[in-house]
Amino acid sequence: MVSLRSASLARLAGFIFALEALHVYGFNPNANTNVAAYWGQNSYGNSGGTGQQQQSVGYYCQDDSVDVFPVAFVNNFFSTGGLPELDLENFLQSDIETCQSAGKILTISLGGGGANPSFSSTSQAQQFADTLWNVFLGGSSSTRPFGDAVLDGVDLDIEGGNTEYFAAFVTQLRSHFDGASKPYYITGAPQCPFPDAYLGSVINAVGFDALYVQFYNNDCAVSNYNIPGDWDFATWDNWAKTQSPNPDVKIYMGLAAAPAAADWGYVDPGTLTPIIQSTQSTYSSFGGVMFWDESQAYVNNRFDAAMKSIVTSSSSSGSGSSGYVQLHPNGDTSKCLDVESANYANGTPVDIYDCNGTGAQNWIINEGTTAVQVAGTNYCLDAGDSPENGTQMKIWECYSGLAAQTWYYTSDNRISLQNQGFCLDLTNGSSDDGNVMQIWECTDDDTNQVWTE
Ligand SMILES: *[C@@H]1O[C@H](CO)[C@@H](O)[C@H](O)[C@H]1NC(C)=O
Ligand SMILES: *[C@@H]1O[C@H](CO)[C@@H](O)[C@H](O)[C@H]1NC(C)=O
Ligand SMILES: *[C@@H]1O[C@H](CO)[C@@H](O)[C@H](O)[C@H]1NC(C)=O
Repeated sequence: MVSLRSASLARLAGFIFALEALHVYGFNPNANTNVAAYWGQNSYGNSGGTGQQQQSVGYYCQDDSVDVFPVAFVNNFFSTGGLPELDLENFLQSDIETCQSAGKILTISLGGGGANPSFSSTSQAQQFADTLWNVFLGGSSSTRPFGDAVLDGVDLDIEGGNTEYFAAFVTQLRSHFDGASKPYYITGAPQCPFPDAYLGSVINAVGFDALYVQFYNNDCAVSNYNIPGDWDFATWDNWAKTQSPNPDVKIYMGLAAAPAAADWGYVDPGTLTPIIQSTQSTYSSFGGVMFWDESQAYVNNRFDAAMKSIVTSSSSSGSGSSGYVQLHPNGDTSKCLDVESANYANGTPVDIYDCNGTGAQNWIINEGTTAVQVAGTNYCLDAGDSPENGTQMKIWECYSGLAAQTWYYTSDNRISLQNQGFCLDLTNGSSDDGNVMQIWECTDDDTNQVWTE
């Protein structure tokens, strides 16, 4: 990645800031419509741009263009006092929670083009994972540059140094993430030549949630899309399905957001539209678009908004070929899970009703960890703050990562509230129209808890 060092080195002091979470739609790890934008390096200003310079990240969270901001960069793993050092511009701490309240996630990105990170041993790599957890994520430390704000994961943009011991580093991060009270993500930004010189062995050894493959600055760039043998998204898709320890890893198409954002390989949005949409519909690993960086995108005719429009305008997002499914109780295809009276509002009960073609019976659901979203709306199946036997089901505005909306669709067709032991349940086994659905302790062989598409 082109990473031009900023002149000002921001050493940030933390203070406490709390903001009430708003429930709005945003990042969905299973979607193929995400947009990820690197932020923090003011690539625009540092490559000679004289228009609007990089703003604080909250400025870019005012609309739906971007879902994920890797905050770039931690450029020195072991600085003063053995603590990581940040290099970023225009940072306002309160912005983290502003962006998260808008349904976006922010990860701490390690490395960049100028950094040469390395570990000298497994234990040092593990200790660094512990430090990141305590300083930026769900742990605690007297040194927290972003105060009480809790970032959503770690991104590895490693383009130098020695990546021996990095697998141990990621594994140790995962040990903190497993069982945490919210989801955390591990991503990486390899360059497109396969295998990547630095991350290649790491991504083969441990599971990543997403890779932001840089399709610029190399022959495999998207600007060479029409040259046979150059553009290699298919290679990455094949790696995802056959070699990655996490076969559900998402591959993002990494782009330069403006001509000056990369050495070469920029492609304009008009030319990109059919390329992105074809890639999205061809490869099931496609997770969305990444670009370097937001400061460039914003002044380049809102390249960020153009990318969001491209990935969301085709119909291939979500589950099923139409993007949504109906959910039937225990195989009874005459009956459907339904939003009462098609009233899309916070708190509307979710009931059972004759299947009648109403949009209130169309759901977006994925196998494994999933939201259960009413297609064409920003409402999701919601179990409330204190789930128990008999809690009635309702819809609420979708909020990424909210426990009340984080379900797990099992291979035996149960829809369970992730890690909480409750399953969507046909109340009293009755399929009468208007019967409001509930959750109940997940029970083996309970036909009230079977939901088929
Ligand atoms: C279809 O089902 C919905 C329940 O969401 C109901 O409100 C609506 O009246 C039904 N339409 C017809 C034509 O029966
Ligand atoms: C929920 O119901 C199950 C029986 O289906 C019961 O075993 C369990 O104790 C109940 N849980 C609570 C918290 O009452
Ligand atoms: C379910 O059945 C029980 C006992 O038959 C009854 O008390 C309860 O009201 C019923 N619940 C609903 C939602 O119909």
